[in-house]
Amino acid sequence: MTKRLRARRRLAGLPAGTYATTDKGRVIRRSAAVETPPLSALVRASLSRRGLLLGSAATVAALALPGSRAEAAGSSAGFAELARVMDDHDHIAAGYDRKVLIRWGDKVLPEAPEFDPAAMTAAAAERQFGINNDLLVYLPLPIGSDRSDHGLLFVNHEYPNPQLMWTGLTEDDAGGKLTEAQVAVTMAAIGCSVIEVRDDGTGWQAVSGSRYARRITPATPIRISGPAAGHPLMRTAADPEGRTVLGTFDNCNGGMTPWGTVLSCEEGFDGWFGGDPTKSEHAALLARYGADEAEDGYGWGRFHDRFHYEREPNEAHRFDWVVEIDPYDPGAQPVKRTALGRMAHENAGCVVAPDGRVVVYMADDHDFDYLYKFVTAKPWNPQDRAANRDLLDEGTLHVARFNPDHTLDWLPLVQGEGRLTAENGFASQGDVAIKTRLAADLAGATPMDSPEGFTVNPVTGKIYVALTENEDIEAGQINPANPRAPNPEGHVLELLPPAADGKVDHAGTRYGWDIFILCGDPAKPEAQARYHPDTSADGWFTDPDNIAFDPAGRMYVCTDGPPDAGFNDALYVLDTEGPGRALPKLFYSPPRGSECSSPCFTPDGRTLFLSVQHPGEDSETLDAVTTRWPDFKDGVPPRPSVIVIRRTDGGPIGT
Ligand code: FEO
Ligand code: CA
Ligand code: CA
Ligand code: CA
Repeated sequence: MTKRLRARRRLAGLPAGTYATTDKGRVIRRSAAVETPPLSALVRASLSRRGLLLGSAATVAALALPGSRAEAAGSSAGFAELARVMDDHDHIAAGYDRKVLIRWGDKVLPEAPEFDPAAMTAAAAERQFGINNDLLVYLPLPIGSDRSDHGLLFVNHEYPNPQLMWTGLTEDDAGGKLTEAQVAVTMAAIGCSVIEVRDDGTGWQAVSGSRYARRITPATPIRISGPAAGHPLMRTAADPEGRTVLGTFDNCNGGMTPWGTVLSCEEGFDGWFGGDPTKSEHAALLARYGADEAEDGYGWGRFHDRFHYEREPNEAHRFDWVVEIDPYDPGAQPVKRTALGRMAHENAGCVVAPDGRVVVYMADDHDFDYLYKFVTAKPWNPQDRAANRDLLDEGTLHVARFNPDHTLDWLPLVQGEGRLTAENGFASQGDVAIKTRLAADLAGATPMDSPEGFTVNPVTGKIYVALTENEDIEAGQINPANPRAPNPEGHVLELLPPAADGKVDHAGTRYGWDIFILCGDPAKPEAQARYHPDTSADGWFTDPDNIAFDPAGRMYVCTDGPPDAGFNDALYVLDTEGPGRALPKLFYSPPRGSECSSPCFTPDGRTLFLSVQHPGEDSETLDAVTTRWPDFKDGVPPRPSVIVIRRTDGGPIGT
């Protein structure tokens, strides 16, 4: 979800006078002075304990909290920091180039027509590159190689912006005004794309006519597997078996499995359905999943009974899952892996434990929701790709409880254990899967400030979690891992799994944790921000979202907040170890109204693919759009695009 949508949905239930909508339609916080508790009692380094959890004394020295600089400052990111900027163009640090690889409306399937923004049709959109690209996964060709000049790019497309697709619409009225044909375009323009990409020495290009080219939309049949398959809550008039659902939408980030499939994450059905959820037979469950009022933001419920809470009460249960897709096999049916639980899935970060079992880290992007991990029952098989086909159907889902002593327990969500009994509404593991949030509530999980990126540093094995923001948290609701109330600017946590014999055990059930960064302006004491003391006026950030690492272990953070702060969302680079720990530097700034997302490296670290999502979204209407990036042509709307970033001398990114 974008912070902008989050804020708009929050607006209706707010205390009067706390928030306001600007003349640009943006939601801002009106109350400037906020009561916050002192952090000193909440944020403490626990160096001796961390030494037991991960690494040696040398590691512990490198882990000194930002602000306690023990060595000379210096970031390993060698570029000269970009100056803050917010205009209708994008900008990158000196010494780097970026070019547009593919735009919304460009051809994906060979028979796709040219993009015609004045006459968009569903038949064209379902063959063209979708709108609002988010997740990017690079998969080398041939499969199993580490080629950095030829591969597949998997992309998902989160949501449509009707007010930036057609004139005469605003964001608020779009759902009620779209025609049936326009609704069909909004459906066909989202989902997922697979393209083939190649660098022939003159730069990266999308390969036309590729046999791998593929579009997945809300009409694509998807198999339901795992404990919720066939469950009564998954059965509908169109699918009385509860085993096949049409399509996927609201795909946000995701991940890649060790066997080279993609996990694309469904991040919330609320806002997409018509009808009144409070009149549904499942009103309480829907409300726990964020659907507590009529919305129908894209008009789907006016034309499709299955997207209407009262007409097809179970359809909503068939979304908010992790979808596994095999880009290497264009004929393979996508699968919703229900063992991984049902939530507003932001991402699914895969890593292998020392015994070969696969661990998937997942964040539920919702105020006061939780962090999860899934551990497969069996190890993966590196020799036989087909043997891993259904590996994600069996295993244990866990939810995180952060303890005040800077330990973290992963609590198993297993039917029949603890309070997950039939009398509490969990008669099967299918119940646990479909009602994951309720199961986690009973287990005693720690409520988080809208978790987003949840990513392992491939060099150190430490894990980083972006808590994007929580405007609603009050002083009585804080906890050690979410220590500010309200928390409009977010923070980043560092998780420390156990380690022995030089191996990090991501299947372990007790971790350590610390606060890595508290976001906000470090020059304002009231912000209670915490970074490396040398962080510049251009380098601090708010609203962390995606986190990625280059092959050398440098961290890349994308932000997702509306430009109320006076600058746009951007991409920042920082170290997690050494003298430059927690010292962010501004690297790339997309055009106004957009967030950049899902930094994705080739194996050699010399190419960075990046999504530029929703350019111009700070516009009320298309007629008054704030940017027409990247085409800058009258009559052509701003076009979300994938860009390619290279160093001008071809060297590794970030150095
Ligand atoms: Fe789609 Fe959680 O951002
Ligand atoms: Ca977001
Ligand atoms: Ca996004
Ligand atoms: Ca996100």
